[in-house]
Amino acid sequence: MSDQYAVIGNPIAHTKSPLIHGLFAEATRQQMSYVAIEGPLDPDDGFERIVRGFAADGGKGMNVTAPFKLRAFALADERSERAKLAGAANALKFENGRIVAENFDGIGLTRDIEVNLGVPLTGKRVLMLGAGGAARGALLPFLAAGPADLVVANRDVSKGEALVAQVGPHDAGLHACGYGDLAAMGRFDVVVNATSASLTGELPPVPPSVFSPYGTAYELAYGKRLTPFLRLARNAGVLGVADGVGMLVEQAAEAFAWWRGVRPETSAVIDRLTVPLD
Ligand code: ATR
Repeated sequence: MSDQYAVIGNPIAHTKSPLIHGLFAEATRQQMSYVAIEGPLDPDDGFERIVRGFAADGGKGMNVTAPFKLRAFALADERSERAKLAGAANALKFENGRIVAENFDGIGLTRDIEVNLGVPLTGKRVLMLGAGGAARGALLPFLAAGPADLVVANRDVSKGEALVAQVGPHDAGLHACGYGDLAAMGRFDVVVNATSASLTGELPPVPPSVFSPYGTAYELAYGKRLTPFLRLARNAGVLGVADGVGMLVEQAAEAFAWWRGVRPETSAVIDRLTVPLD
């Protein structure tokens, strides 16, 4: 029997993960199956029982998506540093009766920006909007790239400050602020919308003055075309606007490599999943 993997979330009907991992498996000739599981939303331990059951039946690993990333992290026996800072797991590996938690969202985002979009973060001024799970996952990989500044803007400033404090002293200009402070901060080379605003068609209260025409505006949401955030960036003259399709495929490639020991090529899969923004 081939090795079993799955993605678990709720809702899960629109997940692209089985398609992505299926294409990776084909390209790298790995014998594996990958299915989507709708996790139960009950407040009890339904999610945990499904994960443990999947592992007990010989499953090798799982991807975890909303709303289970925190519970997956809590369930694990071992956690990577990235997962610890995010307080969330998006990938699990089952080995020797143990559950190991990882979080590849941030590294996937960083790779998409630096490698696929060709925008190295080293020495750049980077603005992250939001301080929730998505922003938390991205912080360490962003810092590792050595930006000149990394500013975390959030409506609830204390949440951004807590996140920055958790990273500890750092020489990149890492700090938290409110949206009202941004107008005085000049232009950023890369602005990432890591808020959940786009899921409800909202716009974070970001002033257009943060954008540089030759910079990059990155929307973590995927397949929502020109979100209010990307439209604002476009209208501010930003040439490089991108959504999260590359991040989705890159985080999957990281998980695949972690599980299988072989890193799949991503560009053909990104091309296949890309939905035009306009
Ligand atoms: P998750 O962990 O899934 O990312 P979360 O922890 O609820 O979800 O985080 C959502 C993020 O989106 C937060 O940074 C939130 O800002 P606040 O902490 O100030 O609430 C941000 N967010 C959601 N809707 C927003 C909006 N309309 N404008 C600006 N920020 C928004």
